[in-house]
Amino acid sequence: MSRVFVAGSINMDVVATAKRHPRVGETVAGNAVFYFPGGKGANQAVAAAKLGAPTTLIGRIGRDAFGAELKAFLAAQAIDLTFVQNTAETHTGTALITIANADNTIVVIPGANGLVEPADVAAPVLAKGDIAVSQFEIPLPAVGAFFKRARAADATTILNPAPAIEFSRELLDLVDILVLNEGELGFLTKTEIRDTDDDTRFIDAARSLQTSREQIICVTLGGRGVLALVNGTPLIIPGRTVKAVDTTGAGDCFVGAVAAQLAAGTSIGEALRYANSAASICVQRMGAAPSMPTAAEVTPILKK
Ligand code: ATP
Ligand code: RIB
Repeated sequence: MSRVFVAGSINMDVVATAKRHPRVGETVAGNAVFYFPGGKGANQAVAAAKLGAPTTLIGRIGRDAFGAELKAFLAAQAIDLTFVQNTAETHTGTALITIANADNTIVVIPGANGLVEPADVAAPVLAKGDIAVSQFEIPLPAVGAFFKRARAADATTILNPAPAIEFSRELLDLVDILVLNEGELGFLTKTEIRDTDDDTRFIDAARSLQTSREQIICVTLGGRGVLALVNGTPLIIPGRTVKAVDTTGAGDCFVGAVAAQLAAGTSIGEALRYANSAASICVQRMGAAPSMPTAAEVTPILKK
């Protein structure tokens, strides 16, 4: 089996649950507070590792209590942390999350994630067939350097451009598989896209992003499922009907699952179907990293 390498953020998620979200300037009473391991990079690495892929995480944490706790949690998921540095200059990345009616708002303070630089991604040795995964909670120069190394090694690159920011055509050219949600698709294509829009609108927007016909664009549509362009042809995978309690990390679960499946040699179509099922399990549990499913949980669902 090939390896999954994730270069990305590692956060402690401080989660408050409430009956509803406060309006600007308003205070509402909450129900509970939780401290969950999170961060897009860590979540994607946990998903890949729990689904059976040998996984390496590249990133930074601070020399503080959150950093120590996160490192212990990630090590317990059998993730290789050789390339996770402890940095003294600042604190571990922290996300302040409010959850009400299964919907979230998030404020992320990057801390140590903001210090990840191209030198951090220079040491890990990738091989042909490995999967390199990144997102935008670490600085763009590090993402670009990581994907250049991955391409040189003949590894497959997966970019999850979240949170959405403008980025160069040069970086997009280095991406084999782009996984993004409808908000990110709207931002990058500068179009108004709503989750109620019909499939053709998503397909047209996805096509406008492609830098080559071979580039796979995969749009996650929450409970509606997934729409992908594979070899230029639209592939629609309906969402599973489940009771969502917390969707935080659903996109990360999807990305990690796709990476793990591709590392195991699965075809892209089957990998996307598998990831759709994995993410439908994730949304039924509280927390980001702790809600990632195991392969033993996903397989029976796929057989149904
Ligand atoms: P987040 O930012 O909350 O981590 P996202 O916006 O990046 O998530 P979504 O499109 O909401 O990603 O969800 C990713 C995938 O998770 C979906 O494509 C689907 O497979 C699954 N999913 C999300 N919400 C639901 C739901 N309510 N029911 C079933 N599956 C869901
Ligand atoms: O994608 C979910 C993640 O985004 C959370 O775990 C939080 O850390 C934010 O970065």
